[in-house]
Amino acid sequence: MDKRVVVVPKIRGFICTTAHPVGCAAHVDEQIAHVRQRHWTAGARTALVVGASTGYGLASRIVATFGLGADSLGVFLERPAKGDRTASAGWYNSIALERRARELGRQVWSINGDAFSQAVKMDTVALLKARFAPVDVVVYSLAAPQRIHPLTGEVFRSVLKPIGANFSSKTLQTDRNVVCDVALEPATEQEIAATVAVMGGEDWLLWMEALAAAGVLARGVKTVAYSYVGPRLTWPIYRDGTIGMAKKDLDGTVPRIDALLRPLGGKAYVAVNKAVVTQASSAIPVVPLYIALLFKVMKERGTHETCIGQMERLFAEKLPDGVVDGDGRLRLDGAELDQGVQDEVLRRWQLVTTENLWELADPDGYGKDFLRLFGFGLPGIDPLEAVETDLPLQRWDGTVWQ
Ligand code: NAI
Repeated sequence: MDKRVVVVPKIRGFICTTAHPVGCAAHVDEQIAHVRQRHWTAGARTALVVGASTGYGLASRIVATFGLGADSLGVFLERPAKGDRTASAGWYNSIALERRARELGRQVWSINGDAFSQAVKMDTVALLKARFAPVDVVVYSLAAPQRIHPLTGEVFRSVLKPIGANFSSKTLQTDRNVVCDVALEPATEQEIAATVAVMGGEDWLLWMEALAAAGVLARGVKTVAYSYVGPRLTWPIYRDGTIGMAKKDLDGTVPRIDALLRPLGGKAYVAVNKAVVTQASSAIPVVPLYIALLFKVMKERGTHETCIGQMERLFAEKLPDGVVDGDGRLRLDGAELDQGVQDEVLRRWQLVTTENLWELADPDGYGKDFLRLFGFGLPGIDPLEAVETDLPLQRWDGTVWQ
């Protein structure tokens, strides 16, 4: 259906409810161009990316497809256009990525559904068997607010809270660029367990078990899930909070997946990534102010990196030889956690207010990155031009995703 409209950002708090289809495609093209600047020696035949439509998962799929030269299957949960609503950014991103990959003759398909469900895992297995060579790389990059347990039907909702004590801190209201205080109550035991159930390692393990049992994994397969450590000032809400417990659970899942993959000579990793602006990170209290300060400091030092730069280094420099830290994790956050950077961020953290925000931090950079996630503010896109919003995402069976 032809539905040309002028698409403008509609921001509510840390959410943007519209997405620009042409802008999202330009954002994907920009990331592809970034990847193509490098001469790639490592390769892969097939990559499976769970959580493939935005943020780190999208960047991973772009690197696997246009850097490693892989065919790729992406799994995600996105929304098509309906009535007056645009589709979600991940929907448009995935259409754009698939189009570019097909221009190169690649097999590239997506599954739009609940990755936590048994049905989506089974559909993925069937599609891999029908259309793809055995999988060399499995990326697990979900960031989800809830999970329906596939065996019990129980609904778990993740929360972003401290554990054990109240936590008060500065934060940034990103839609108004106001620095204010936030007070967070500690999570209950039930909330901690629910967050671990959503964002911990159980589902990653279930994915790997399903793929191994179906015989769709290649010899030497590697799987990687993403984590974050960050500086002390975010630890009460991140590392030592509910999400941190889930990330510890992810670490604890690595040996179990390693055991599963041993007969194939395969290996599981957790990669610790840098803080970047994504739909997931903008929802975490305190973190947006930290990111706005961090970006300013890292840009001043020339060490700033975005999602695609991080994932390029992961696939080119860390994953091939399994370059890990003392805890067995692939580290991409070295420049973020550099002592000089963190001393400066901490110094500015103590001083920052709404009045000096632009002097000490990079709220404009944060805001631009946020809008770009939804396809707004990219060069060469006329924001006043009416564009088609109802774009179809092809299914492998000749129909389209609804
Ligand atoms: P994001 O919000 O950009 O992407 C989340 C992805 O999960 C999307 O593809 C979405 O469609 C998919 N998804 C959510 N629920 C789903 C469901 N039920 N079924 C299928 N797909 C579903 O998030 P981001 O930030 O890229 O996060 C990915 C991972 O990277 C997370 O584990 C996060 O903790 C980690 N990470 C993020 C950092 C950051 O600064 N953003 C830093 C370090 C790690």
